Amino acid sequence: MDALLSLLHADWLINLIYLVAVLFFVIGLKRLGSPKTARQGNALSMTGMFIAIVITLFTKEIVSFDMILIAILSGAVIGTFIARKVAMTSMPEMVALLNGFGGIASALVAMAEYYTNQGTVTDDTIVYVTLILSLLVGTLTFSGSIVAFGKLYGIIPGKPLIVTLSKPINIILILGCAAAAVMLHGQISSAEYVYAILGASIILGITLVIPIGGADMPVVVSLLNSYSGIAVAMTGFVLHNNALIVVGSLVGASGIILTNIMCKAMNRSLANVLFGGFGTGDSGPAAAPTAGGELQVAKTTSPDEAAMMMDIAEKVIIVPGYGMAVSQAQHVVKKLADMLEKRGVDVKYAIHPVAGRMPGHMNVLLAEAGVEYDKLYDLEINDEFSRTDIVIIIGANDVVNPSAKTDPSCDIYGMPVFDVEKAKTVYVLKRSLNPGFAGIENPLFFLDNTQMVLGDAKKTVEGFIAALDEMS
Ligand code: TAP
Repeated sequence: MDALLSLLHADWLINLIYLVAVLFFVIGLKRLGSPKTARQGNALSMTGMFIAIVITLFTKEIVSFDMILIAILSGAVIGTFIARKVAMTSMPEMVALLNGFGGIASALVAMAEYYTNQGTVTDDTIVYVTLILSLLVGTLTFSGSIVAFGKLYGIIPGKPLIVTLSKPINIILILGCAAAAVMLHGQISSAEYVYAILGASIILGITLVIPIGGADMPVVVSLLNSYSGIAVAMTGFVLHNNALIVVGSLVGASGIILTNIMCKAMNRSLANVLFGGFGTGDSGPAAAPTAGGELQVAKTTSPDEAAMMMDIAEKVIIVPGYGMAVSQAQHVVKKLADMLEKRGVDVKYAIHPVAGRMPGHMNVLLAEAGVEYDKLYDLEINDEFSRTDIVIIIGANDVVNPSAKTDPSCDIYGMPVFDVEKAKTVYVLKRSLNPGFAGIENPLFFLDNTQMVLGDAKKTVEGFIAALDEMS
């Protein structure tokens, strides 16, 4: 038994098992890339995490197993409760909080390491520099994520709050941290420098995130996710823990890649998201736009009339957006599609890369409702709209706004959008003529072949279903 325990304490074996855990993470991440394999990806990553936690318990530095058990149990209970309770539309808030906790955990471990090894921590330059970076990045990730959570949850105004002189303030804070780090290096027992770094990092996290519009928060959350990974990797260097270094780097890199994908799909640069003050998240009042001073009027129709047209259609494309998530219409949308298919209608779904408020938002909702993946099409479906009888837009707005193609002065100019206006008839399901996330008017609502079906998306689709039922 003693021989087995001493084998399990051997560094080479611990590192080998960490390598196995890392393989699970890498394959898990790869599988998360497609809705078909995403569940498996999650399971593989969880297995990797389990292996990493168990083998960490065999390292020699464990002080108290009781405390670890209490922490694991309370974390598991709270995590399970929150994950089961959270609504799909509140996922970005939850991810923001989890990023923040990841960041602060890394910073606290780095701080504990500073206090444990005060005498020697500055001897090794790599350890010292990464310890300071872990404190800085971990803490700013925490405060920035709390602000992001507050904006998404509505307790901090969604409007981009322009902090005057925010850029010079941020530069001064970063320089202050660097100065405190240099001073700390000379006087190893001066905890006030550690507190100075912590204080400056907390303020930095707030001043970095507060000027960004609430609706841009998913991009920021993805960036903060990347920061939390960087903080973990830095802590890995401090603790000489290879698993933390690799896993932190994986999270850091994937967060940056996702941020880049989201910016590209919105045709915006990261700098524009971070400093552009775009996307207030609090869209303005309903307004029928004027063209050349004339009031434009959008045509409206009832669910019954729209259902009559659907009954005789051959090809229908459904375009869901953020409003489908808000009204939780995915299940009735699937029911409507099933009914149409039974009548011989060819039904497809057009899913824009940034529809909704988080990557894969629509895919997740439709998968939850049981829609087959092979019916979901990306922008490649654009060729088909001209051969389509009916397009049903369910709570989407910016992703079908033709101004993105025609009006160089509009904020989303250049963002690829669906060519829905090419279909014979377009039904737009939303509650008003209000703009969407980008806060710009949508000329689609006023086209001859567009009809608005105003109201909550779920209720409207239920209206279609009831009317089709009566017709059969
Ligand atoms: P939006 O342009 O935001 O439009 C959503 C529409 O849904 C609104 O105009 C709203 O109109 C309607 N709506 C809200 N609640 C509804 C309900 N209960 N029933 C019916 N309609 C409802 O959404 P989109 O077309 O999906 O575009 C997404 C936007 O978010 C893009 O601009 C994108 O750049 C941005 N964004 C996306 C992401 C990701 S990763 N997906 C991240 C950040 C930003 P009413 O108020 O009139 O009902």
